[in-house]
Amino acid sequence: MVEAESRRVTVIGTGYLGATTAACLAEMGFEVLGLDVDEAKIETLRSGRVPFYEPGLDELLTSGLEAGRLRFTTSFAEAAEFADLHLICVGTPQRDESGAADLKYVNAAVESLAPHLTRPAVVVGRSTVPVGTAATLAARLSALAPVGEEAELGWSPEFLREGFGVEDTLRPNRIVIGTDSPRVEKAVRALWQRQVDAGTPFLVTDLQTAELVKVSANAFLATKISFINAMAEVSEVAGADVIQLAEALSYDDRIGGKFLGPGLGFGGGCLPKDIRAFMARADELGVEPALSFLREVDAINQRRRARTIDIARQLIGGNFAGRTVTVLGAAFKPNSDDIRDSPALDVASTIASLGARVTVYDPQALERAREAHPELNYADSMLEAARDADVVLLLTEWTEFREANPEELAEVVAQKRIVDGRNALDPTYWRASGWTYRALGRQ
Ligand SMILES: NC(=O)c1ccc[n+]([C@@H]2O[C@H](COP(=O)([O-])OP(=O)(O)OC[C@H]3O[C@@H](n4cnc5c(N)ncnc54)[C@H](O)[C@@H]3O)[C@@H](O)[C@H]2O)c1
Repeated sequence: MVEAESRRVTVIGTGYLGATTAACLAEMGFEVLGLDVDEAKIETLRSGRVPFYEPGLDELLTSGLEAGRLRFTTSFAEAAEFADLHLICVGTPQRDESGAADLKYVNAAVESLAPHLTRPAVVVGRSTVPVGTAATLAARLSALAPVGEEAELGWSPEFLREGFGVEDTLRPNRIVIGTDSPRVEKAVRALWQRQVDAGTPFLVTDLQTAELVKVSANAFLATKISFINAMAEVSEVAGADVIQLAEALSYDDRIGGKFLGPGLGFGGGCLPKDIRAFMARADELGVEPALSFLREVDAINQRRRARTIDIARQLIGGNFAGRTVTVLGAAFKPNSDDIRDSPALDVASTIASLGARVTVYDPQALERAREAHPELNYADSMLEAARDADVVLLLTEWTEFREANPEELAEVVAQKRIVDGRNALDPTYWRASGWTYRALGRQ
């Protein structure tokens, strides 16, 4: 039996999700061993540096390491020896054009851990996977583990938001565990006892439902964003104002105002790939029509990128060739340095391919952006990026950009033209400072 009082846990995969989970569990008093196959990442974590930007995580990493409750390794043998509860937090990126999820990392994590499980153990997947994955992995785990069926697998999807990862992990809005094993349920309940005592709902489901909770939550959120962006498209041609429309909708508490912000749309390492993987899985299950609306959700989202480029092109007289363009924002959203499927970088690199000289500034994501998009220019401050610009595009709504001073910016640009891709600025204020202001979904 897994010891009920065991306070030891391993976290396999120490990216955005895993490193945050590991540091938060150490903060909660657990003894945590983080494991990754990326040696450089493990070295960075061991030295007390977080390999990405996540507010508040540095402090937790440092205090966990100093307290001796948090360690890192690349050895699966050490992980199996260390604890009897293992959380799988490895990536599940989009595989190819089919949109399906690439499960090679979750498969590898289970296949690497299993042969070392000589004592009863609980393995809990936290990665986002297509429905049906966990049942296959559970069988594989017990087939490969020396301890056989005493190595049990459950699935507990993770809902943290990058930028709020620490807060969301320490105070989750719900814990879902898919399992029919009392032992798995008990181990996961023990992990989140403090949160459950404080009122966090704890839901026990079957494996399939747990897997579906995560992908359907993301499908719903993506749909809500694309819904308001579809209204923005209509508003643009009908002469309406989507910001006022969204506000009026938000007072209906059946609708609510969250995720109802019109703009450049969603990106990142989760929503785009999760809705595509969900569609691909529905196709395999023979229920493709049930999710065909997600194709439209994806298409609306992509069209916002094209529309943002069109607005900027119109503003500078119809042609990007030889023009100077400033892009404010590279991360897919503020308070993160994650540039996976970043709408801002997508727009920036398309404009560069149309002949403009594009300079990008972002408070946290410059290093990653530089690596992924060497065709763009980068500046270390907003003012430097905006120098001689024919048009400025605000594409990630960092507070620094929301609070930008239009008069200060006016002194460095060639032309006072701004495209507010996130509806983050006050148009009246910017126009009063002499700027030509354009935004999505507004006149
Ligand atoms: N990032 C988020 O905000 C978030 C939120 C909820 C769920 N998720 C889900 O969590 C999973 C991880 O996402 P992420 O953003 O942390 O990805 P990530 O790419 O930042 O991290 C994944 C890590 O797994 C490691 N890895 C790969 N194969 C491994 C193996 N065999 N053994 C050990 N480590 C291995 C990689 O080296 C990498 O460090 C995905 O399924 C994602 O959809 C992410």
